[in-house]
Amino acid sequence: MVIGAQWGDEGKGKIVDFLAENADIVVRFNGGNNAGHTVKADGRTYKLHLLPSGVVRNKMVVIGNGVVVDPKILLEEMEMLRGMGYEPNLALSDRAHVIMHYHRLFDSVADKMGKIGTTGRGVGPAYSDKAKRTEALRVIDFVGNNFKERIVSILESKRHDLEKAGIIKNQKDFDAYKASLISEYEGYAEIIRPYVSDTVYIINEAIDEGKNVVFEGAQGTLLDVDHGTYPYVTSSSTCAGGACTGAGVGPGKIKRVAGVAKAYTTRVGEGPFPTELHGEEGEALRNAGSEYGTTTGRARRCGWLDLVILKYAKLVNGITDLAITKLDVLSGMKKIKICVAYEIDGKRTDRFPSSFEALEKAKPVYIEADGWQKWSAKEAKAVVKKGIRGLPENAQKYLKLIEELTGIPVSIVSIGPGRDETIIV
Ligand code: IMP
Repeated sequence: MVIGAQWGDEGKGKIVDFLAENADIVVRFNGGNNAGHTVKADGRTYKLHLLPSGVVRNKMVVIGNGVVVDPKILLEEMEMLRGMGYEPNLALSDRAHVIMHYHRLFDSVADKMGKIGTTGRGVGPAYSDKAKRTEALRVIDFVGNNFKERIVSILESKRHDLEKAGIIKNQKDFDAYKASLISEYEGYAEIIRPYVSDTVYIINEAIDEGKNVVFEGAQGTLLDVDHGTYPYVTSSSTCAGGACTGAGVGPGKIKRVAGVAKAYTTRVGEGPFPTELHGEEGEALRNAGSEYGTTTGRARRCGWLDLVILKYAKLVNGITDLAITKLDVLSGMKKIKICVAYEIDGKRTDRFPSSFEALEKAKPVYIEADGWQKWSAKEAKAVVKKGIRGLPENAQKYLKLIEELTGIPVSIVSIGPGRDETIIV
């Protein structure tokens, strides 16, 4: 299982792609196309939002029941991959829920009022409908014979919301909207139908046969709807438990949980961020790490590594291994800060607070590590060959500190976006 240990954008796509080399199946279990997973391979960059990263290894990929699927985006992404020479071997869960046109519109309207800073992809409204039950559309209904009746009944019940959002004004608009939605989505359903199946059986049978299955988390621990910095979170379960419900596997079948963390911290959207760097320092880190969102292009907020977060992520996910990414971005800094605790109202704590107000007040308590020199591309190759001992001594010390203070072994270190810039410890 590969889980984001921070606020998303940790580089899970790259780690999953790396692990997918020895996998039989790669499974997405949460979120939707709010995710942006970048994979660099064979001199090309793939930006995936919905399909599991294993797709560029020609592996079987599964979109599990916990995902919300925008059929338009799914088909566009499949086309993009075909154009690049990959034929996706996809199984889409019949229990997954569908993101419709109106979900995207409701997302942008709601966000203007709520200021969560969502990606505007309709993810929140689709999960709301899932929990509400009466206005939801599952893939099984979407590709089934009763799609038309189902969508008409949903739209009748959403009529007031559609009017409020300015999508329709009168009966004529409503009839036109219904007709165009039905025709557009019937077209998608036709193409998607052959990929739909009960993926619970596919995944469990594969595991029982001893095959390697990698679960690819989207977003990160602190964006989890239960464990994250609520309400500034996404609407799904991004943590390890979410993989079990979002794919339909028992926890006993999960052998290892890799928590992916950047060597520093970033966050997109609103909400408290104790180690955030403002001004020039933040800007320098953003530029060094090219910290701009894969999905929305927004500038990511940047700050120092926060071990209060990583220790919390270890607890709620049962992380067995850490994958530290973007270590190269810190190269060339004289001193590097690591947050080991917070001070809240004059009291020191190493627990991650559940209260939003407490987190806003949290002052990071730092220790300082010595920096290391930048390495050239040629040196990077040698580093990967030699393994962890090829890294500058202070970089090794930095990783050791992370291991000691979190109690989690660092198993993978990424020192660049390419597949060949990965160190297995
Ligand atoms: P939503 O998932 O579009 O509803 O957005 C809710 C919050 O999650 C916003 O702060 C987004 O910026 C954040 N978010 C959603 N997906 C990702 C992701 O893949 N990486 C980082 N942040 C994300």
